[in-house]
Amino acid sequence: MNNTHSNLTKWSATSRLFHWISAILLLITWIMMLLYNNLDSKVYIGLHKAFGVSLLFWMIARVINRVFTKAPPPVAMPKWQMLLSKLSHFALYALLIAMPIAGLLMSIYGGRPVDIFGLFQIPVFVTPDRGLARLYNDWHTDIIWPMIIAFTLIHIGAALYHQFVKKDNLIGRIK
Ligand code: HEM
Ligand code: HEM
Repeated sequence: MNNTHSNLTKWSATSRLFHWISAILLLITWIMMLLYNNLDSKVYIGLHKAFGVSLLFWMIARVINRVFTKAPPPVAMPKWQMLLSKLSHFALYALLIAMPIAGLLMSIYGGRPVDIFGLFQIPVFVTPDRGLARLYNDWHTDIIWPMIIAFTLIHIGAALYHQFVKKDNLIGRIK
């Protein structure tokens, strides 16, 4: 990942598209869960799952895109910030992939096929197991989700710091 000879100043159009659609899918998936918690309608848990699985497919495509496209050279910053940014970007990728997989396994081990917008179904491809369903439920709600919240807040906090304190137009690179 040595991009020092690149004269890019922005992320590629595909990288920018992948970034913002991921953020929007995450937001929608979360909103569907809020609606389900407040209205207790089966419609919203179904939509939560369908959008969550869509985010999984989107993230897989995003990783492939990331491997094959050149990143713009990093903006100047202290070494520890560079390290933290690499680490948190990697964590966000990993978490956004692990989260829907845990959700999917929770449903499947619970013996429930997952319907994707009425287009197709992910069948119960394992022997249902209540213990495992509960385990993945715990990972989904108590471990991975708090980590997503933490890293997303750090991420957005860092973006705002670049925007308003350092004023180095970092956000412009991903817009
Ligand atoms: C990145 C994608 C996803 C995110 C961010 C996400 C987020 C969440 C959150 C925040 C909760 C609520 C926890 C709570 O009420 O305390 C939840 C619950 C749940 N999620 Fe997801 N989810 C995602 C993907 C999925 C997928 C793909 C499935 C299934 C195919 C799924 C199935 C469920 C189920 C069944 C619950 C309810 C668990 C319960 O009632 O205890 N989720 N999810
Ligand atoms: C207001 C919301 C957001 C802003 C302002 C924002 C801003 C940015 C910026 C400026 C970059 C590029 C950093 C650079 O050029 O070095 C970036 C990259 C990234 N963002 Fe965000 N972001 C937002 C939301 C999110 C969300 C919700 C996620 C996922 C949970 C996310 C995940 C990522 C990842 C994984 C990268 C690294 C890209 C890569 O290295 O391939 N972002 N974001």
